[in-house]
Parts: sequence; structure tokens; C-alpha cells
Amino acid sequence: MAEVAATDLDEAQAAAELERLGAEIAAHDARYYQDDAPTVSDADYDALRRRLLAIEAAFPHLVRADSPSQRVGAAPSATFDKATHLRPMLSLDNAFAAEDVVEFDARIRRFLKLGPDEPVVFAAEPKIDGLSINLTYRDGRLVLGATRGDGFVGETVTANLATLKDIPERLKGAVPPLIEIRGEIYMARHDFAELNAAQAAAGKPVFANPRNAAAGSLRQLDPEVTRTRPLRFFAYAWGEAEGLEAARHSEVLALFQSWGLPTNPEFRLCRSPEELLAFHADIERKRADLPYEIDGVVYKVDRLDWQARLGFVARAPRWAIAHKFQAERATTRLLGIDIQVGRTGALTPVARLEPVSVGGVVVANATLHNEDEIRRKDLRIGDGVIIQRAGDVIPQVVAMVPEMRDPDAPEYVFPDHCPVCGASAPRDEGGDVVRRCTGGLTCEAQAVERLRHFVSRRAFDIEGLGEKQVRFFWDLGWIRSPADIFALRQKNAAAEEPLEKRKGWKDRSVANLFDAIEARRTISFPRFLFALGIRHVGEENAKLLARNYGTSDAFIAAMVEAKDPESQAWRDLDSIDGIGTAVATAVVDFFAEPHNVDAVHALLAQVTVEPEAARVVGNSQIVGKTIVFTGTLEKMTRDEAKARAEQLGAKVASSVSSKTDLVVAGSSAGSKLKKAAELGLTVLTEDEWLALAN
Ligand code: IVH
Repeated sequence: MAEVAATDLDEAQAAAELERLGAEIAAHDARYYQDDAPTVSDADYDALRRRLLAIEAAFPHLVRADSPSQRVGAAPSATFDKATHLRPMLSLDNAFAAEDVVEFDARIRRFLKLGPDEPVVFAAEPKIDGLSINLTYRDGRLVLGATRGDGFVGETVTANLATLKDIPERLKGAVPPLIEIRGEIYMARHDFAELNAAQAAAGKPVFANPRNAAAGSLRQLDPEVTRTRPLRFFAYAWGEAEGLEAARHSEVLALFQSWGLPTNPEFRLCRSPEELLAFHADIERKRADLPYEIDGVVYKVDRLDWQARLGFVARAPRWAIAHKFQAERATTRLLGIDIQVGRTGALTPVARLEPVSVGGVVVANATLHNEDEIRRKDLRIGDGVIIQRAGDVIPQVVAMVPEMRDPDAPEYVFPDHCPVCGASAPRDEGGDVVRRCTGGLTCEAQAVERLRHFVSRRAFDIEGLGEKQVRFFWDLGWIRSPADIFALRQKNAAAEEPLEKRKGWKDRSVANLFDAIEARRTISFPRFLFALGIRHVGEENAKLLARNYGTSDAFIAAMVEAKDPESQAWRDLDSIDGIGTAVATAVVDFFAEPHNVDAVHALLAQVTVEPEAARVVGNSQIVGKTIVFTGTLEKMTRDEAKARAEQLGAKVASSVSSKTDLVVAGSSAGSKLKKAAELGLTVLTEDEWLALAN
């Protein structure tokens, strides 16, 4: 059948074809670059790409952010050197509503124990929708420029960054001996339009939005290409800084300027939540007139001593927040509802939509959260729906459009059985809204999802063993539980048809995979724990548990014992500060299942879990000690005291027992203090604690 010319397609056809072509090209790319085993001729592959580019040129607003045309070079991770940031590059928590901003200010006041009359001054500025980078200057000379990467390790793009007019190779004036400057690379809207016009005229791929254009332009193997691209930079933060003399964030921004680094002119100091909200409204009004794209504003506590006290939660500072703008919306059709089964058995409905462009990105799927949400919104298949997209978050279905409803459309009935294994899927006890498949590991979806979680980046991080390969080995019957991964090499050696003889695999890709697996035979305790995929045990809880138990053996023994709610092991677990009863119960339930214990033991026969020594800051005397805070502290809040203690490598418990090493008693301490006296424990006053902690 003859192909319809790109310009003769209607919009829905174009969107659908782009989606199909994108997936097809991505699959060919993976076979070519990762597996080294292409399955199409170069000519056929080129034809697919040409067709995609032609449709994108005819329908520029349908260019998908994940389109192959948006990827620069195809195997980028292999082409840039890795660079470890001296201090991690963090992300920001988000605020959407005015209440979130009021709560942000209130939280800071509570944490710092500020009186109602003490103003907290915030540095506020637009949140640029670009990509963040890290510039290391030694004695004022640019020595390293890197992308953010995963926040810890980025890619070295020094030569490319050095081509930007906004990035000086030498800072002016008196500069610290070492400083990591952080900021955003972006492309102005008019520059983006010009670049895309030139790209289209030259038959080259156009970019979906300025952000992709900036990213694509920066990650060029040839810096001379970057030089021709109109990239700009704003500096807004810093990482490691030796000898930086400043008391306020705003002072540092002034220093940045004096050194010749551009900072955002829309900067303002705000003295109350009301002033923050006024700033937000002001910038939102100006948004369309700003020469660059922004997706909100950022507020940071101006006083650096307060920033230091506030510290971080997980990967975001307590002293800053991003206040996002109203999400972009569009109307489309709900074509169907898919039910996905996650690793804990949760049934999650996903809306399949007629593809539609929302703020420059084509959306074809959206989250529906759960059964109640579908009922509350009275969504039916075929409905017209309003969807919204904010930044990087998954698009959401906001509401159905009553005028577009087919009066005969039946109500949607949520399945009460697992669509994958057929086991019953009742709602959780305790009034939870989630239906869970009861099939456990006999449910293929759950088992595969758990394996996928196990090998994922923040867990075992096995390179070359992604979703696709897990599925592949599952289908072959070679892996059923995590331990099997570490026996893959033997399995392959003994197989009638080893991988090397199969389509899509080459000797080198097989060897690389086995090497990557071998490289993970030793693993940190928190990663190991997180990888098990126990409900409620995310990275933070995994870290807390690892620190409290020290070794995996001690931990597993304690969890098995904690099955008895009368046991000391259960009381110890339940009294770890930060581990609530729901988490404790989930962990104990996990180890109460013999098949889980078997799987963990089988895994431990294959891997070595490093014991977790408490992380120490400085030369602390309280490393590894268990501390209980009780009574009212005058000079810092409980939260701050707790954060400080953990930073120093201590464990904080909520109840006093014979395992407690130190009790810090504030004023009007009651029963815990009494118990401490009975047990003959060391009790410190608040001042003694401060002396120790500082
Ligand atoms: S401050 C520790 N200020 O937003 C806080 N970030 O969502 C450091 N961003 O990764 C970030 N404009 O890439 C800050 N004026 C601004 C920003 C900004 C854009 C980005 C940055 C960060 C992300 C967090």
C-alpha cells in the first residue's frame, strides 16, 4: 500500500504514526547500540527515520519529547566521561498551592524554633526550565563542567560549556580557591524558534521544546557544534566552596555577578509567605513575556547559617522549595483503561488516550490513581476528558467533559481479580483504596516487577539488565528470583542454545552482561535492603534500618524473631525513630513468608552484603549510639536535634530501653526520664547535648 504523504495525514493519524515510528526506531536503536545486533538494513532504518522527520516537520507541535529525533547521538552514556560532583546536586520539593507555601514557611519556623516576630527572609527567583550543570572553578579557572546526571555523577562537558559566552573561563576579582557553581543552561525562546527553522530548512531534526534543544546542543561530541548553538546560563547555587565568605544567599549571588557570572535579574528578597505569593503571581503574569521558559519560582532561605541548620531530607533541602505554576491542560478522548500490576500487587489503572499535545508534549497515557478516583470522577470509556501535565510528572486526568458523554456509555467496573494471574484482588484492609493481587510471587506480573526493581539503578544497578532483558530471561525461564541472576552465567554455559547463539546477542554483549552482574556481588546493606522491594521500604527507610542493625544477618534474625509481637526484637524495631508501625509491620510480614526468607537466603549465598557502619560527620563521640530525646528542648527543636544526631552517626529511638545509650532530657521530661534513671542510663541536659553535638 502506498504511504500517505506526511502533509496529507490528519492530526490523529500523524500522532499515532509518530508514536509507532518512535517505538520502532527506539527498538532498532537498542538492538544496534546496546546489543550490537541490528535486525534491519541501514536503508530500511533510514527510511523509518526520514518518515518520522517528515511527519514531525509537517506537525511540529506533535513532536514527542521521547522522539528519536530528540536524542543526540544514540549511545550518549558511553561517549562522555563521568564526573563525580564534590557535593551532590540536589533536587527541590514542589509546592503547588498557596497553603504549601504557608506550610513551607511554618515548617522552617518550627524547625528553627523562631518566634512569631522573627522574619524569615527568602531569596526568590524564577525556576528556569533548562538543564542544571556544575562548574568547578579552581583559583578562578574553569577546570570542569558537568551535567547533573543522577545528582552524584554527571557527564563531563567542559569543552562544550567553555564555548558559551555566559560561562567565563576565568572568574574576575577575588575568588575562593575552589568553588562549584551551579546553575541552569537554557535556550531563549526566539533563539529556539530560529534554530528549529534552520534545522527544518536543512532537513535536520527539529526540537520539541527549548529544553530539549538546550540539552541536545550541549551534549554534542564536537564542541564546535555547541559553539554555533545559542545557549545561555544563569548561576543560582553552589556546591563545594572553600573559603567562601558570605552570610546570605543573596550575598553569594552578588559575588557571582562580580566574578562575571550571569544571575537572574528577576531576583527578589521576600519577607513573608504573602510576599512569596505576590512574587509568584507577579512572575506568572510576566511569564509569557520572559524571553525564556520557566515552570515556576524557587524560594530559598537567605541566611546561610539557617540553611546549614535546616539541612536536607532525602534528596531535597529543607530550606528551599519550587513553587510551580498551574499545569497545562488539554481535552481529549479516553480510549480505554489498562490495569497494571505492580511489584507489591497493587492494581493501578492507566488511561489510554487519543494522543494530544499538552504544552508541547504529546500525551497518550495518563495516571488514574485508583478505583475510587475513577468512580469519583465518573469516568467511562469513550468520555471526553481534560488532562493536565506539569513539568516532569506523569499526566493526570482532571475531569470528564459532560457535554462529550455518550448517554449509553456504561459505568466503568474496576476488576476484582488480577488481570495477569487471575487471583482475587480485594481492597487492602484498613480502608485503603488500593486493590492488590493476592497471587504473591505466583503472579507473573508481581514476580517480574520485583525482579525489575531488584536490578534497577537505585537497587542492584546491574548495567545491561533492564526491563527488557528481565522479561527476556523470565520468558526463557532462566530467572525466577533474584538469586537466579547470579547463576545466569552457569545457566548459559549449560544451555543447549546459549545466548551467544541467539538472535540479538553477541559475544561481547553477553560477556558485558556477566561482568556487570559479577561487579555487583558485593553490595551495600541499604541497597540490598531496598532491592528486596519490601512494601514501604524505600531508600530512606532502608538506610535507617541498615544503620540500626549493622549487618544483614543481624537484621534478618531480628525480623524473624520480631514476628512475635511480645518479643524484644519487635519492640526494638517499632521504637526506631522514623520507622512507623506500618513500615515495621510490612518488614515483619515480609520475613514471615517462608518463600521470601528462602529467596533472601538463596541470594545471600550468592552476594556479600557490606556491614553498614554509621556514617560519621567529623570526629563524633556518638557514632553508633542509640539516643532518645525527651521533654521540651529550648534551643533546638526535636526534629533538628534528631537530624543532627543522625548526621553524627547516632541512631535515634523513640522509647527508652536497655539498648539506649544516651537520654537527652529537656524540661518537664516525664516517664522516659524515670525509666532511664531506673535502668541507670546516661542522661544529658540539653546544654550537655549541644556541647557534644557541636
Ligand atoms: S536551586 C539545592 N534555583 O530546578 C537547590 N534550581 O527542581 C538547588 N532550577 O535541579 C537548586 N531554576 O535544575 C534552583 N533558580 C533556580 C532554578 C533551579 C531551575 C532547577 C535545577 C534543579 C531543579 C529542581
